[in-house]
Amino acid sequence: MPLISRSPDTGVWLLNTPKTSYALRIDTSGVPTHIAWGPRLTSEEADALVVPDPPPASSFEGRPQVGEELPADNGTRYGPSSLQIRHTDGSRAFEWQPSGERLVEDLSGTAELVLEFCDSLYPVRVALHYRVHDDTDVLERWAVLHNAGDRHLRVPRADSAAWTLPPLRDYRLSHVTGQWSAETQLRRDRLPYGETVLTSRRGITSHHANPWAMLDDGTAGEDHGRVWSTALAWSGSWRLTVQRTSDGRAGLTGGVGHEGTFIPLAPGEVFTTPVFAGLYSEGGYGAASRAWHAYTRAHVLPHGRETAPVLYNSWEATGFDVDEGGHKILAERAAALGAELYVVDDGWFGARRNDRAGLGDWSPAPDLFPAGLGPLSDTVHRLGMRFGLWVEPEMVNPDSELYRAHPDWVLHLPGRRRTELRNQLVLNFARRDVADWAHDWLTRLVGEHGIDFLKWDMNRAFSEAGWPGPADGNDRLWTRYVTHLYDVIDRLRAEHPTLRIETCSGGGGRVDLGILARTDQAWASDNTDAVDRLPIQHGFGQVYPSRVMSAWVTDVPNQLTGRSVPLRFRFHVAMAGLLGIGGDLTRWSEGELAEGAALVAQYKDVRHLVQHGHLYRLTEPLGEGPTVVQYLSDDAAELLLLAYRPSPRHGTPSPPVRLAGLPDGARYRDAESGAVHHSGVLTKYGLHLDMPRGTWTSIATHLVRLPDQT
Ligand code: GLA
Repeated sequence: MPLISRSPDTGVWLLNTPKTSYALRIDTSGVPTHIAWGPRLTSEEADALVVPDPPPASSFEGRPQVGEELPADNGTRYGPSSLQIRHTDGSRAFEWQPSGERLVEDLSGTAELVLEFCDSLYPVRVALHYRVHDDTDVLERWAVLHNAGDRHLRVPRADSAAWTLPPLRDYRLSHVTGQWSAETQLRRDRLPYGETVLTSRRGITSHHANPWAMLDDGTAGEDHGRVWSTALAWSGSWRLTVQRTSDGRAGLTGGVGHEGTFIPLAPGEVFTTPVFAGLYSEGGYGAASRAWHAYTRAHVLPHGRETAPVLYNSWEATGFDVDEGGHKILAERAAALGAELYVVDDGWFGARRNDRAGLGDWSPAPDLFPAGLGPLSDTVHRLGMRFGLWVEPEMVNPDSELYRAHPDWVLHLPGRRRTELRNQLVLNFARRDVADWAHDWLTRLVGEHGIDFLKWDMNRAFSEAGWPGPADGNDRLWTRYVTHLYDVIDRLRAEHPTLRIETCSGGGGRVDLGILARTDQAWASDNTDAVDRLPIQHGFGQVYPSRVMSAWVTDVPNQLTGRSVPLRFRFHVAMAGLLGIGGDLTRWSEGELAEGAALVAQYKDVRHLVQHGHLYRLTEPLGEGPTVVQYLSDDAAELLLLAYRPSPRHGTPSPPVRLAGLPDGARYRDAESGAVHHSGVLTKYGLHLDMPRGTWTSIATHLVRLPDQT
């Protein structure tokens, strides 16, 4: 069956992914209308789903509030608009007039449908794009707006897509909320009637919400049930509006910007929205997450199949107290522990001895690095590690050479206060000269100092977001900032193909499919307390794969929470993602260094499972635990279990944990103990986890499939 086809009888476009179908058509009035999103359909079945809308029941009703592909402000539409274009006469209508359709299928297993429209009155064009792949059920959608006239337009809303759910008995919404050091806290609640807005108004994706949503009928679980999920690939302000209508339907619309911001569209200008991807899946939240993970690795990340190195990062060890000598000592210890990438964090440049000065002056501080970064980079390379550096290109401390030279380079509103957060202001990346300046020093830095890895940080939200100068600057900056950020990273990557980048924004403030399309991993949270990390990682992994989830083992008592948990536990938590070490290794005892080295070696043995395998969340990080995650290889030949437990009440043993995804009739051998287990027992009766006694104990169990008995 072709990936995309059009029914000659009904005009229904049917888009097929391996297990799902999506159907739409242009209705008799020219409006792109939703037909179906769910299990696979034949084209006759899709045709049969075309039913005329009932006439409005009263003069107070309008078109159904959900069910269009991109509800435009016009006529009798009373739901949230996905498309609003403010014309020069002040009106905001768009009346769909089909003007063309294109189907592009290539041999690589991808097909794209483009439906083109113009407004019936003004010279504005809108194209809806749909892309499907033959190896994922994730469907990619976006829109392209074109001002074909000679007047400036302001666009209050240009969502990437609206998604329509089938009628269900009930609706439940899953999403994440949070704050700094408490990102990605999973929320799962009944969808209220009315409109539920998930948004960031901070200029970044944010710690407080993340641009994805999952909907089910209230009965799905981790391993069963139908789930409709969507994720927006955008790293600036955004808004998703989830709707539950009074007549019991649900849908959502999403795109860039928050209320009150506009997208300017100059004569001849084209605005391409980011991708808003959608996935229908069966098999519960677990299957939905695994599908997003596989999609992200295969279609989003630039190098999703590459295995990430074990990293050392100096931030919690040294803070701002860095110099060449100290780093060389740490680097030697890190290499001895098994680290493969050594990252110098904040404090290596300009007058940056604390967070009050120097940000923006990106040359190595001569008193700390008298001969520049070369000698340290050479040492790190000689020790067999790659060399990484922290940068925060979008920021400036007012106490810096850069700010003294260019006070107009920051986001600001003339005549108003410039609010500092962490003593810094936001450089206006929407300005071409600012973005070019950042690109120029970054490419020079990377080229001259043998830098293999950048931790790209962004440590504050926008405020007084203004761009004096261009007439439409205050509108334009919201999107232009992000596209220039993407452009700088894209150029850097093209110029330095072996460079790898970690996205960070005071932890997980800028993690989304847009930034992941041009970075390699993400710092999930500044909170490195292993116990707090469990729910953070649980929420992170709902959509984003372990392949990108950077996690460090740091010292105790934890700097943020004061909690102390065993070294082994800290390792086992970090091993659920990209293992990194962030402790002060000059203070680790011989015993700790030896235990750490053994755990790093163990991680290297199993990291292919964590980074490229399939994640099963066997239990949730709640209550007495144990919290158990399982990573299964693609061919089910190997799996890793990581289990974490607080001290059990009354010393009660934990119940057996049922594994998932194993083939029937297989036997697995515990790589450490040699014990042999039958897959039927493991999946139907469960495995007794041999958790040590004590507080916050953990185990890592590696099971390898034995050849089948004949
Ligand atoms: C942010 C990051 C930290 C660290 C500091 C340095 O908070 O999230 O990991 O790099 O900045 O100032």
